[in-house]
Amino acid sequence: MASFPYEDRFAVHRTLPEDGTPRAAVIEQLAAMGKEEDAFWESGTCSGTMYCGDHDHYRFLSEAFGLFSHVNVLQRDMCPSATKFEAEIIAMTLDLLHAEAVAGTTPAGLVTSGGTGSICHAVLAYREHAAQTRGVTRPNLIKPETAHPAFDKACHLFGVELRRAPVDPATTLVDVDWVRHHVDDDTVALVGSACNYGYGTVDPIGELSALALERGVGLHVDGCLGGFILPFGQELGYPVPVFDYRLEGVTSISADTHKYGYALKGTSVLTFRDKELRNSQYFFLTDWSGGKYCSPGMEGSRSGGLLAATWASMVQLGRRGYRHHAEEIFATSARMQEAVRSHPELRLLGDPTFLFSFTSEPFDVYHVNDFLRTRGWRLNGQQYPNALHMAVTRPQTLPGVAERFAADLADAVAYAHAHRDEAPQSGAVYGGVAGGMTEEADAFIKLVMADLMDGQSAIPAGS
Ligand SMILES: Cc1ncc(COP(=O)(O)O)c(C=O)c1O
Repeated sequence: MASFPYEDRFAVHRTLPEDGTPRAAVIEQLAAMGKEEDAFWESGTCSGTMYCGDHDHYRFLSEAFGLFSHVNVLQRDMCPSATKFEAEIIAMTLDLLHAEAVAGTTPAGLVTSGGTGSICHAVLAYREHAAQTRGVTRPNLIKPETAHPAFDKACHLFGVELRRAPVDPATTLVDVDWVRHHVDDDTVALVGSACNYGYGTVDPIGELSALALERGVGLHVDGCLGGFILPFGQELGYPVPVFDYRLEGVTSISADTHKYGYALKGTSVLTFRDKELRNSQYFFLTDWSGGKYCSPGMEGSRSGGLLAATWASMVQLGRRGYRHHAEEIFATSARMQEAVRSHPELRLLGDPTFLFSFTSEPFDVYHVNDFLRTRGWRLNGQQYPNALHMAVTRPQTLPGVAERFAADLADAVAYAHAHRDEAPQSGAVYGGVAGGMTEEADAFIKLVMADLMDGQSAIPAGS
């Protein structure tokens, strides 16, 4: 998609306009852009991203958001409703994650800005708690290589050493023996994913839990992606292993309401087995001239609209609504996986769930991607090995989408065979660097990525 597709149609604002634009004209522009961009994913060909995709549901959420969009939830004396929403979002999430199994501590939570926000708060909480209770001054955290980059970001931000545990290439699951040999007195927590972003597989959380208990360290389960769908997969009888508070060593779980919770973008829930762990990262400034200040997490002011819309999504859908959507998503994922399995040239990685990933040995799987793009598909690219992943969401459950995937995939495999001796186009952007990542390649790729990010806030050149 072009970076500046609107420059010829709508005014480019290089300065704050002296005179405002009439509301109707502003909305007209926004509606035109929104409609065009929605058309891209509405057909169901886009992996992940639009977890709900139901415009009726979005209208309902927007109405809930609109009632509280102007409210600042930092000022709770003015908005006790925010306390109701936040407390109930956390309680309902804890319920889904079987906090009733917790004994001896008080489960608690935080509503954050998204998956990265939850992971950052978890890493901060483990660092602070270990410093306060065990005197740890050089903290480290162990994550499977497959766990989300948000852990790397959090460790980078908070001065925590990150140890990346390898995974078994056949199962994509973390090597628990490696983790066992790398835990030491400065380890604040282990990490497992349920499920990971790359392969949709669930780490052996039971084994990690036993190890965490044995070594007296925390265990964060990243359920950002799976937290609101895997519990229903379990209820429906899919072979999803237990990953929640029924395992005694699990001390925190993140679950994103803005993914399979079908809420608006901008919320996630970070839950804790023990309120003490959450509270260890509370921030206080009692001697500020501006007054006494405290905040439960990193954010300061937040919109009440997001809490209201998240609460509305959960209460409106209820378990029955979530289970129904999960049933359709798991069934669609199974059909799409079957299409992949029907090609001996393609290989599914590990034992996936609602999200699956596949590679190819006879040819570079990015040839498949090149072709699927011509049919409007947007899969996510991976490396080591080169692979493509599809996070099945509600748009893929629309009639005919799984069948279309099977038909387009068959054509894509034929295309890949025919072009196997050429370099795939999309591989240059997403694929692994042949021969491994050299320092030069790393520096070059970072330059290209920085350029891409610069472009996201650039205005088109012109007078
Ligand atoms: C497993 C997992 N964890 C964390 C995240 C980060 O979430 P966010 O993009 O909301 O910050 C993602 C995002 O896709 C994810 O899949």
